[in-house]
Amino acid sequence: MRSFNAIAVVSVLATYVSALPTLSFGFGAGNGCLTKHTAHELVNNFIKLTNGDAFNEDLARALITEDVVDTSGSVASIINSGNTGPVPLLGPTLANRTEFIAANSAQATTPYQPLNIYWTCDVVTFRFVIPFEPQPVLGITILETVPAPKGCRFPFQIKQVFGELNSFAFLVDLGVYEPIDPPPPPPQK
Ligand SMILES: *[C@@H]1O[C@H](CO)[C@@H](O)[C@H](O)[C@H]1NC(C)=O
Repeated sequence: MRSFNAIAVVSVLATYVSALPTLSFGFGAGNGCLTKHTAHELVNNFIKLTNGDAFNEDLARALITEDVVDTSGSVASIINSGNTGPVPLLGPTLANRTEFIAANSAQATTPYQPLNIYWTCDVVTFRFVIPFEPQPVLGITILETVPAPKGCRFPFQIKQVFGELNSFAFLVDLGVYEPIDPPPPPPQK
């Protein structure tokens, strides 16, 4: 059984995107909208905050609004080991930046790997995989942003996080659940 701290998986929303492009091409913030550069930078930094190893409180204060809300039914299920509480399944999972920092500063190393990044004017979403064994875990995170206040080193801040992942595979990897063996036959059509 993988050693497991409930709070350590609170933000399972992350990855290694160190390979993502970080060059700015000088076209500004895209008329107030996210650009490929700012969207990828946002995901890159969000992952730093949530993968355990690279957590940095100054980065969290610059990147995340004070009133951020992070909602994840699957993370709640993981923390609850498949029960309905104590973390509410409908959220919020983390109610503000203070809670975000408390949870993520205690995050265990989690080797998230990005699969795709998409963005609109003010929303970034990315797919990821956590290559745990025996069951790799897929997930999707949505980051809603707002323009950052003057003086912030980033043009956008994250105000809302929605992230879901394959919590059953995660709980199997943690040793909390054992799959039925042999698998049941497929349903009859
Ligand atoms: C953050 O949320 C928690 C739980 O609702 C609350 O107790 C705490 O006072 C909040 N902190 C701030 C700085 O808003």
